[in-house]
Amino acid sequence: MKAGVIGHPIAHSKSPIIHQYWMDEYNLHGSYEAIDIAPDDLAVGVQKLIDAGFDGFNITIPHKQNIITLCDEVDEIARSIGAVNTVRIKGGKLFGTNTDGFGFIQNIKQAHNNFDFQNKTACVLGAGGASRAVIYGLIQEGVSRIILINRTTDTAQGLAKDFGDIIDVVPWDERSEALINADILVNTTSLGMVGKPALDIDLSELNAQSLVCDIVYAPLMTELLKDAKARGNKTVTGIGMLLHQARPAFALWTGTTPEVTKKLESLVLK
Ligand code: ATR
Repeated sequence: MKAGVIGHPIAHSKSPIIHQYWMDEYNLHGSYEAIDIAPDDLAVGVQKLIDAGFDGFNITIPHKQNIITLCDEVDEIARSIGAVNTVRIKGGKLFGTNTDGFGFIQNIKQAHNNFDFQNKTACVLGAGGASRAVIYGLIQEGVSRIILINRTTDTAQGLAKDFGDIIDVVPWDERSEALINADILVNTTSLGMVGKPALDIDLSELNAQSLVCDIVYAPLMTELLKDAKARGNKTVTGIGMLLHQARPAFALWTGTTPEVTKKLESLVLK
């Protein structure tokens, strides 16, 4: 396997640790590098990877949208999400997909015994790139309703237009009251992350059976997850989404579908 992750900045990326761990675990030879490509150099940078014989690469901020125009083919998943996070290179051509929605769903299923999403109502906070992947995953799994709550209502409305009637947009100020109907609550905003403002939300309307997920993983136990746990709600931390989204990429490049283990999680969190 000859692969890597492109982004700008990229030094903080955990992806090399994940893929190196799997190469060791499954006795596969190869390399996975973090490659810094500035926005203006994207086309040239990607051509260099093709010329160097890469099997593919992951894409992170700020290239997830712009890479689409460089792809020869983009699958239905990436088109629906509006972003590509994984490229396979074959015969000099780029095939783009997106594994973030898969990562989000598989993380929940692994943490909670094949959690059943059918006919559930999900409350999603945030309407950025991560939100689109989460919403795509939730719809694929058969949720019946998504309540979308974002500081900027216009952005939420744009997202709702792309995904259809299943989404109801609720104003940011009504986030705590909206929880009354939620079987699943997901924070896709950056609020609660180290160095960012707190996520101010009151969970008292939330049913005790509901599942609470945060895609923030620094800290691993966010205030949202701590609050939820203290009330007896099921919780899912954000690190697993990062680990699980890497599995289909590794499988595309090597033919081996790797597993997410506790050992890998602690290595990445170190
Ligand atoms: P990502 O790709 O990780 O989703 P993003 O596209 O920048 O990142 O989206 C960040 C999300 O966090 C957005 O929903 C953003 O809300 P806006 O659309 O109103 O910008 C949300 N967010 C960031 N800072 C916030 C804050 N201080 N209060 C409320 N929401 C915030």
